[in-house]
Formats: sequence, C-alpha cells, structure tokens
Amino acid sequence: ESDLNNQLPLKGKKILITAGPTYEAIDPVRFIGNHSSGKMGFDIAASAANLGASVILVSGPTNCKVSNPLIQLIPIISADEMYNVCHQYYEDVDVVIAAAAVADYKPKMAAEQKIKKISDNFVIELVKTEDILASLGLKKRNQFLIGFALETENEFENAILKIQKKNLDLIVLNSLQDEGAGFGKSTNKVTFINSDFTIEAMELKSKEAVADDILNKIVSHFKHIHN
Ligand code: CTP
Ligand code: CA
Repeated sequence: ESDLNNQLPLKGKKILITAGPTYEAIDPVRFIGNHSSGKMGFDIAASAANLGASVILVSGPTNCKVSNPLIQLIPIISADEMYNVCHQYYEDVDVVIAAAAVADYKPKMAAEQKIKKISDNFVIELVKTEDILASLGLKKRNQFLIGFALETENEFENAILKIQKKNLDLIVLNSLQDEGAGFGKSTNKVTFINSDFTIEAMELKSKEAVADDILNKIVSHFKHIHN
C-alpha cells in the first residue's frame, strides 16, 4: 500500500454525521431545544475529513464552524428536517455517526401566530419525534452505524438495548460520572460498546481526541472487511 493510503485511510469513503440540538417549534418565535453545543459532532467531522473521508454533516443550530472542504454542512432546525436529510443521503454513505441530541418530543401542532398570554396556565401537547437512527438501522445494508448514548442509570444495560433496538455496529456511551465530561464541556469520557457487546473504557480526554478514537474504530472496521 502506498503512503497516501496510510495517511488518508478513509479516502473514497462517505460519512454521514448528525450533530447539535434540534429545535421544535411552538409558534413562529418559540421552540423546545436543548443545550447540545454541536462540538462533538463537528470534531468527529473534522477527524473524518483529516483522514480523507467525504463528510455530510447534518447539524441543528450551533456556533460551530467547518473549515475542511471535504465537509459539506447541511444545516437543519427540527428533528423532522434532520430525518429527511439523513434518509436523502443514506443510500450513498458507508458510515453514519449519530452525535446529534435529537428532541425526543415535539409540539403536536406549531401555532401559526405568536401565542398570546391569555390564560394563567398553558399546556403544550407533545408527540414523539421519529427515531432517526433506528429508522436508518431498519434500512441498513452495508453501512457501519454508530450511535451515542447518554444514560444516568443502568448505563451498560441501556446502551446494549440501544444497540439492539437501533441495529448499531458501535455505541459510544457518554459517562456522566466524570465532572469534566459532556454537555458544554470541551472534554468527554466515553466507553465503546461493540455489537458483540465487548466493552472498551476510554480515558477522560478532549473531544478532539475522542473524535480521533471513534475514527480509529472506523478505520479498523474497513481494514478488517477489506483484508
Ligand atoms: N437519536 C436519533 N433520533 C432520535 C433520538 C435519538 O437519531 N429521535 C440518536 C441519537 O443521535 C443517539 C442515539 O439515537 O445517537 C441515542 O440517543 P439517546 O437520546 O441516548 O436515546 P433515545 O433512543 O432517544 O432514548 P432515551 O432518550 O429514552 O434514552
Ligand atoms: Ca433521547
């Protein structure tokens, strides 16, 4: 193999990455969102592009920026929009990494006009969003599917259930035990759980380094299937 292949082991591969929060409209000026910064997904996109992959980065609202021309950013707002874009590109991609903090529920109806403060109490009926990753898992052919999981109890059991429910090849479990890890932080502590349920606990490290670890898993996957 040439040096170029070793430096750019993912040249020719297409990777779909979801990132950031989703915003679910209540009315034209209000939404239900979450505190995801998008950083983990954007760092994964940068690591993938550095290894030569073509990246489609579908992201909810974030301040993160892309610099590598191998990354095509597709901004979306809502979970429904993220779902549609993911399915539009899915057939063509080799890998999916779902790092987005997708809203689990959205308002049943978004009001057409700004809601006025008339009554003392106000209830918004919420309905489930589509599970994007599970829907991709159902349609899986050769794609290598990676999900994230954030759990506060029974973390291994719950993460393994997500592998099965979403037909994943790898899940990245965010460990909340560590104060330096997670939402709004620049560091993360993760545990990899493979589809055979083998477990690899990683050290607390920068999100850039966690991104590189995830890309290493992808590179070794392709080494195994090509040899
Ligand atoms: N996910 C998704 N679409 C959704 C919800 C989640 O694609 N509507 C993806 C996330 O991007 C993540 C994985 O599914 O990669 C797990 O998300 P998580 O919130 O941990 O799990 P849920 O399946 O939503 O279950 P719960 O929140 O009840 O733990
Ligand atoms: Ca969820």
